[in-house]
Amino acid sequence: MDTKLFFGDASAFATPMLAVFAVDLAEGKQADPRPTLLTRNGTIAASAQTLLESGEFKAGLGDIALFHAPAGLEADRLLLVGLGQAKAFSLDRVRKGAGTAVRAAKPRSVRDLAIAFPEAVGSAADRIAALSAALTARSVVEGAEIAEVDYDTYRSDREDRDVHSLTLVAAEAGAATTRDIQHGFDDGRIVAAAQNFTRSLVNEPGNVLTPTVLGARAKAMCDEAGLKCEVHSSGKLHELKMEAFWAVAKGSAEPPALIVMTYEPETTPAAGAPVIGLVGKGITFDTGGISIKPADGMEKMKYDMAGAAAMIGAMYAIARLKPAVKVIGVVCSAENMPDGRAYKPGDIVTAMSGATIEIVNTDAEGRLVLADGLHYAKTLGCTHLIDAATLTGACVVALGVLNAGLFSNDEAACARFLSALETSGEKYWRLPCTDDYRDHIKSEIADIMNTGKNRYGGAISAAMFLKEFAGDTPWVHLDIAGCAWNEEKKPWIAYGPSGIAVRSIVEWVRSYSA
Ligand code: BES
Ligand code: MN
Ligand code: ZN
Repeated sequence: MDTKLFFGDASAFATPMLAVFAVDLAEGKQADPRPTLLTRNGTIAASAQTLLESGEFKAGLGDIALFHAPAGLEADRLLLVGLGQAKAFSLDRVRKGAGTAVRAAKPRSVRDLAIAFPEAVGSAADRIAALSAALTARSVVEGAEIAEVDYDTYRSDREDRDVHSLTLVAAEAGAATTRDIQHGFDDGRIVAAAQNFTRSLVNEPGNVLTPTVLGARAKAMCDEAGLKCEVHSSGKLHELKMEAFWAVAKGSAEPPALIVMTYEPETTPAAGAPVIGLVGKGITFDTGGISIKPADGMEKMKYDMAGAAAMIGAMYAIARLKPAVKVIGVVCSAENMPDGRAYKPGDIVTAMSGATIEIVNTDAEGRLVLADGLHYAKTLGCTHLIDAATLTGACVVALGVLNAGLFSNDEAACARFLSALETSGEKYWRLPCTDDYRDHIKSEIADIMNTGKNRYGGAISAAMFLKEFAGDTPWVHLDIAGCAWNEEKKPWIAYGPSGIAVRSIVEWVRSYSA
């Protein structure tokens, strides 16, 4: 989709479909809906007046109303897009509204559309005006570009419903606002492209996207974006003594991939400047290994590389946004298979860090590959670490699919992540990983074991395991098991890979930019 920005009068903009956002100004549960357009353009307001007065369109989040030949407008169609209650207005609602507009265009084979930049009106004005123009523009672009994609490339009955162009139409404003909107628009395009790249990787089935292929896709991205990239395999794992990573990999006929992507800022950072490490779990298929999973739902384990894909996508955005901080992406990719050569419950392996691990369950493989990935990132000079992983079913039980799990050993790093969420709009809920949980992973015969002592607090046990390898280095851990795949389609996003974590990780990294 060709996404463009235009400054001028939206009512005079010729387009097959002009989308305008609306909120409900009604206060209180009993009050009748009061849908109001978020535009100060009187011509648009006048053309929608009869419809708004009819009460048919209530401006609930994801609601739409469409009509042809709107009076006084150059557009062929006017699409009203509900963002819900005015008092709940947020950037995330703007993102979803833009997505809803694009996904309304697709089944109607509308190839080109315009979205009117949301403007502060009526009693909602304060809340709307409080949002920065830059972030509003960015949210529109992100929401629209994410919504454009459908994961139907493997369907022979696929119909071409691509939207070719989207124009964000903002009223002419002062130089500062114009510049802000342009900046936000540019950021949005980069971040959305990165998120869609991540989604395209997560969408691939395990037979197509093996660790080797993931390595090749990462390398191709790095070549295009101007990042240094090395893709290693079994030999390097042995050389680095990554026995935990290798234990997981060795049961598969597919060789593992250790992917290292490096971003160097344009000006050499001062001595002692932070170096950020992004570490991703890249299990291209998780059968559970010898502790094999039940057949029911196992097909979903093709997305067990979503953490890795998020890091590869984040590196893509970082290469283009050029923050003034060095960033190293480390992806540990393998297939977890049962086999004559597979690792077994009871095995004891020595991680790269020297820690000995008693394997209790071969299905707790993600933490093993990440143990070596986190330690390796530190040896490469990383001073701050973040990992993303579809790590535990327990996290899904705890938080459902609306919030991902957030863990950290460092208040400052965690605080930066929480403020990144205000920009990214993603939802995480912090869970504890304080030292009093350490005995969850205590082993009688090795330093630690790879599962908790019982089922309770399984997401925390996994985080405690990773924390051993982060050590004193400030570290943030994202358990995205419940949020990486949308089982339910929404008006603003298709079924399938969500691309979660890319936007938040990129913002977190930018917060360290000198
Ligand atoms: N990849 C799974 C976790 C997962 C579950 C991801 C659901 C996405 C959706 C992970 O490798 C796993 O199997 N974890 C085990 C850990 C247990 C054996 C301690 C789990 O959650 O059951
Ligand atoms: Mn597993
Ligand atoms: Zn797994």
